[in-house]
Amino acid sequence: MQPLAYNFAHAQQLHRIRCDYTPAWAALRAHFERSGRHFDVRSAFVADAGRYAAFSQEAPHVFADLSRNRIDAPTEALLLALARECGLEAHREAMQAGAPINHTERRAVLHHLLRNEKNESKQPLALIPRALAATDFIVNAERDVQATLHAMLDYAECVRSDSAITDIVSIGIGGSGLGPSMVVTALQDRWQDGQRVHFVSNVDGMELGSLLRQLRPQSTLFLIASKTFTTAETMVNAHAARDWFLAHGGSTEADAPLPLARHFAALTTNIEAAAAFGIRTTFGFWDWVGGRFSLWSAIGLPIAIAVGAAAFKELLAGAHAMDGHFFNTPLERNLPVRLGLLDVWYRNFHGFSSRCIAPYSHGLRRLSAYLQQLEMESNGKGVDWQGRLLPYATSPVIWGEPGTNGQHAFFQMIHQGLDVIPVEFIVLRRGGRDLPAQHPRLVANALAQAQALMLGRQSACGHRYFSGNRPSSVLLLEQLDPASLGALIALYEHRVFVAGSIWGINSFDQWGVELGKQLATDIEARLTSGDSTGLDGATAGLLERLKA
Ligand code: F6P
Repeated sequence: MQPLAYNFAHAQQLHRIRCDYTPAWAALRAHFERSGRHFDVRSAFVADAGRYAAFSQEAPHVFADLSRNRIDAPTEALLLALARECGLEAHREAMQAGAPINHTERRAVLHHLLRNEKNESKQPLALIPRALAATDFIVNAERDVQATLHAMLDYAECVRSDSAITDIVSIGIGGSGLGPSMVVTALQDRWQDGQRVHFVSNVDGMELGSLLRQLRPQSTLFLIASKTFTTAETMVNAHAARDWFLAHGGSTEADAPLPLARHFAALTTNIEAAAAFGIRTTFGFWDWVGGRFSLWSAIGLPIAIAVGAAAFKELLAGAHAMDGHFFNTPLERNLPVRLGLLDVWYRNFHGFSSRCIAPYSHGLRRLSAYLQQLEMESNGKGVDWQGRLLPYATSPVIWGEPGTNGQHAFFQMIHQGLDVIPVEFIVLRRGGRDLPAQHPRLVANALAQAQALMLGRQSACGHRYFSGNRPSSVLLLEQLDPASLGALIALYEHRVFVAGSIWGINSFDQWGVELGKQLATDIEARLTSGDSTGLDGATAGLLERLKA
């Protein structure tokens, strides 16, 4: 199944002009020098009684308060002009229509198709440029998605009802681990008793080894999650799991008492490699699903096992609702667009180099790790779509910890350090089932931090002085249920796309991870042979020490 042919002229049409050559960019630069640089959020609130309403945005399952950011109506108008001049709408339509916008890998980008569980037609064809209009490719992809999804959900329900299986171990790294483990962690209230889902990523033997000590092969199901089925860490861990299984009574024979085929399944696009490994049960997906966008695909099987098919569908439905908002809402009221443009404003005009993710939710404690890959692997690029060096910055550093823990660690710097670090507070209106009386205290802390960052305390001096005017946003969810979580994740995915479109980069490749992988293979061989010829001085020196 081939996506629409990649066509250079079409790509040029999508990336009509680099962002820093647009009139809007020049206008933003002048606007920043005139008023943006010294913008004070407190004064903006005094001047405009409607500020909270103007800079808050309703989207499916997520309400966003952006009013404490260093933006005003003229800034947003110029940012929207920038988006239009950079062809954001055409780029969004091209993605939706299945054009191979991941052009360095010649792939379409269609993770949103995975969320359309009922498969109702959500594409108003009028929105799709004629040259790209509906294709067999999309129709076939949708059919394949539905078939795989339902097979995978049936399997998940079988595993859930199999009382012999107590432990599910998902082995996968990067996009094949971070998304599912973040979601499973977040949805803890939905786990069923008697089954535990574990995630193993690191090639450090401590991770898998310490887990295996607690398991019995007859009650364990291993899921090998790897889009390529070649990632070194995953393959090393998969072989170690297989060796452990066979050494503890397992067998490669299908009719043996403990057959490997029943205790291993693969989640991959590389079905041949999974079969060669000895796996019979494989759930596939497609090259148009990027690794960091894959939790909605077969890679999400551990989620479906942990929380059940119904909750998995709710997760998809929440994301699908956010897709509808992103694809169909005018840019002015489109939350992923407003957030993505804010990211550009902060990164390229204010020069803020990082953004802190502060979920006031223990369930979301893995969110910032997940977003690090989503944002930094997608938009941490130094060349434009044609491979030309960029003169402006792209992805900020994404980092964070859940509140209130972060308050007692790094919030000191956010309040009083010299760097300005925009903070994203994620707040739940209703808490989980455990100790609900503590929830108001959690929420109060989030609101207090946002307030303190903005207001500061200028009446004090010296060590007690707070400058204030420190930007933050609040993303408010009703509760941490599958639909809200799905919508939140999709919001971040689309926001990354928006910023990447403005920057004119390919947000869907990841060539930056290749070099280290190649060098590691060479160094591993040298660790055994001891040969350091031709190496740089530092690596050779360390190799010597490691030998000794
Ligand atoms: O680290 C690079 C990367 O290619 C990620 O993009 C990807 O999510 C991860 O490795 C895992 O890849 P795979 O699913 O093929 O094992």
